[in-house]
Amino acid sequence: MNTNGLVLQLARAACRRDPWGTTNAVRALVEHEEKKKSGGIAEQLRALLPHPGKDPQNQMTALKHLDEVTPQVKLDDLQLHDEVRETVAELIIEQHRAAVLAEAGLRPRNRILLTGPPGNGKTSVAEGIASALGRRFYVVSYDTLIGSHLGETGSRLRQVADYIGSHECVALFDEFEAVGKERDDGDEIGEMKRVVASLLVHLERMPASTVVVAATNHPGMLDRATWRRFQIRLELEAPNKGNLVAYLSRNRNSPHLWRNSPTIAEVLSGASYAETAEFCNDIQRRLVLYPEQDPTEVVKQALDRWTTGRTTRKAVVPITVA
Ligand SMILES: Nc1ncnc2c1ncn2[C@@H]1O[C@H](COP(=O)(O)OP(=O)(O)O)[C@@H](O)[C@H]1O
Ligand SMILES: [Mg+2]
Repeated sequence: MNTNGLVLQLARAACRRDPWGTTNAVRALVEHEEKKKSGGIAEQLRALLPHPGKDPQNQMTALKHLDEVTPQVKLDDLQLHDEVRETVAELIIEQHRAAVLAEAGLRPRNRILLTGPPGNGKTSVAEGIASALGRRFYVVSYDTLIGSHLGETGSRLRQVADYIGSHECVALFDEFEAVGKERDDGDEIGEMKRVVASLLVHLERMPASTVVVAATNHPGMLDRATWRRFQIRLELEAPNKGNLVAYLSRNRNSPHLWRNSPTIAEVLSGASYAETAEFCNDIQRRLVLYPEQDPTEVVKQALDRWTTGRTTRKAVVPITVA
């Protein structure tokens, strides 16, 4: 956004007596001026902002609803479709080169929605982005956030949004559909919609250096307005057989896994990456703990356990292990 756009945003928020929006607009203006290296004015504007550290009470409250996780996952460790990998790489470049973009009056993208069945990398991608950017990684925890009163939920969401907006970080809103889940009480549905709408506005006004990742296994529960708020929308699909072979073949230090990858992929067909990872860990644990056992037999037994554990499987694939 250029200076005119930012001033307009500030005026709009001020005229609507929206203190949250006003603060965010000033923050965006500070960022903009800093990037233009206009010195003095950026500093004067920054001095007007409520310093997060000045309100420890609010900070403490926000932290009750945020789990800080030390990012361990690297994006390179993940098996991702080319489109997903490339788009995430673009986001990281934009974030790294925010200053260059600012010179041209542009902001990096910072809102990303990840969808897809459980266990296929939504949380891992968010963590991988935090690793790549070297930023703190916060996961919003809903159990404490969603209160019995909607007013309470709304103000907690505001505190959380305020906190993450004042810290350069990556924030994951996991199970994003939970925020907008309809209540049994018909009267509250409209109110909840308002809470969600205002959260989306907060997310949209986040400073560009806060990356918001929303994740959901139930994309159908999000309405179109919600989808539109995210600049990047990616689906992390369950692996097909070819993806599973590629994933298993990455285990170069575990020859029994990659050598048997076509057979394992055939038997595990339909499994998520998380289930496949657990399957591989199980074999690797056994190979370490029972070195006297024939590795081929260990793999075969694991495949047998998998097949029999899956009573709903229609066809049992004949298992031949190398
Ligand atoms: N795309 C992937 N590539 C490699 N491993 C994956 C991938 N997706 C998931 N995993 C494995 O499964 C575990 C759980 O994945 P997670 O990111 O929590 O899934 P989701 O958030 O989609 O439910 C990860 O810790 C990782 O071991
Ligand atoms: Mg997850």
